[in-house]
Amino acid sequence: MNHAPETTAQPIAQPAPPEAAVIPGPTLADFEHAQRTVAPVARRTPMETSRHLGRLIGAPVHLKCENLQRTGSYKLRGAFNRLSALSAGERARGVVAASAGNHAQGVAYAARELGIRATIFMPVGVALPKLEATRDYGADVVLSGETIGETLEAAARFADETGATIIPPFDHADVVAGQGTLGLEILEQAPDATTVVVPIGGGGLASGVASAMKQKAAALGRSIRVIGVQAENAAPYVPSLALGEAVTVPVVPTIADGIAVYRPGELNLEIIRESVDEVVTVTEDDIARALLVLLERAKLVVEPAGAVGVAALMTGKVEADGPVVVVLSGGNIDPLLMQRVIAHGLAASDRYLTLRIGLPDRPGQLARISELLAEAKANVVEVLHTRHGAGMQISEVALELSVETRGPPTGPRSSRSCAARATNPRSSRSDAVAASATPPPPRNAERPRSGGRSRSVSTGH
Ligand SMILES: Cc1ncc(COP(=O)(O)O)c(C=O)c1O
Repeated sequence: MNHAPETTAQPIAQPAPPEAAVIPGPTLADFEHAQRTVAPVARRTPMETSRHLGRLIGAPVHLKCENLQRTGSYKLRGAFNRLSALSAGERARGVVAASAGNHAQGVAYAARELGIRATIFMPVGVALPKLEATRDYGADVVLSGETIGETLEAAARFADETGATIIPPFDHADVVAGQGTLGLEILEQAPDATTVVVPIGGGGLASGVASAMKQKAAALGRSIRVIGVQAENAAPYVPSLALGEAVTVPVVPTIADGIAVYRPGELNLEIIRESVDEVVTVTEDDIARALLVLLERAKLVVEPAGAVGVAALMTGKVEADGPVVVVLSGGNIDPLLMQRVIAHGLAASDRYLTLRIGLPDRPGQLARISELLAEAKANVVEVLHTRHGAGMQISEVALELSVETRGPPTGPRSSRSCAARATNPRSSRSDAVAASATPPPPRNAERPRSGGRSRSVSTGH
């Protein structure tokens, strides 16, 4: 029997609760007030567990499904909280916002719930489903401006002329407090979470979630880590945090249009500097792959901006020391964009390849290629075969095959390697093979055909 050595009783030192960081902007009381304010309209969205992602990172992964929020994104929280704070006079003069996406729908829905007239300015080329959804929520939609900058100017002029209140998408304390209600909800639904991963555009969502969670966790005597994720093509937070001031980055388009913001919000940057532990970036391919995994594995429709957290997880940019919660911030994706992103995601995951092969013009070549592809268990979706083309020899034919594969091209039986083996060593061109991962065209889309193509066989299913 083991006896513990006798000791004189010492008071056991309790670990000191983490000190509440001094975070500018809304206080914990503001966030809790906002939570009571938005409760009647904002859905308490589900928290799903992803075994697939959990296995990938070696820790439990929970997905906070704001893609299933009313209006399809978390934006309703901030908009409703901001509108609820307006005086009777302000409400009577109405509200105005400029947006090409989720903010428009959040403001329109919140205004309808509160009986406030909303005018939403949208860029001329806005996607039709977004325009229709905003109108369906009862807002007056005005199409103005080629770019969101021009649309913002038009909305500002309207506010000057009518006295309507501008509802900013992220840079306002009431908006931040509303978005922060999501953070409080996460702590209630996943109290054991040690890390939360959240998308960043202008910073309204991340500043709210991080500040609310840090303050609430400190009050509970614990801590929580918050990781922000930006699309590499629109990542002003990286230089802004390094420099300590808002920096505008050059505009490079991204499929994550919801977070395509090229300068941080002033208040948001101040809050994020004090409450977000790290900001990481993900590429367009990473986002497409994440969207595909969410669709296939979790059966969740998530828009590209809403999937960047999962992309960060899948690329090993989030170190897990316990359960991780990833915020899926929105699910509003145009079916045509979805089609393109799925195609891109398949190609980026090496599950769809286009092989371009130059062959000597002799009988049996196509059969040989088919054999090799069958060996590699690749499914041929489309074949293009031509004798004409720039740079081709007279004795040569070119073959372009679109194939569905079973994953990355490794090993002697991979589709790419089969393509390489198909190259006839006696062919006059040793570099006659190109295997490239290109997104497939939509099945029903017209494929551009060069005049020389002799035959197009679709074996698609
Ligand atoms: C789906 C989605 N996720 C994330 C964001 C980023 O929000 P914020 O600008 O508050 O950082 C947005 C912004 O509109 C969005 O629509």
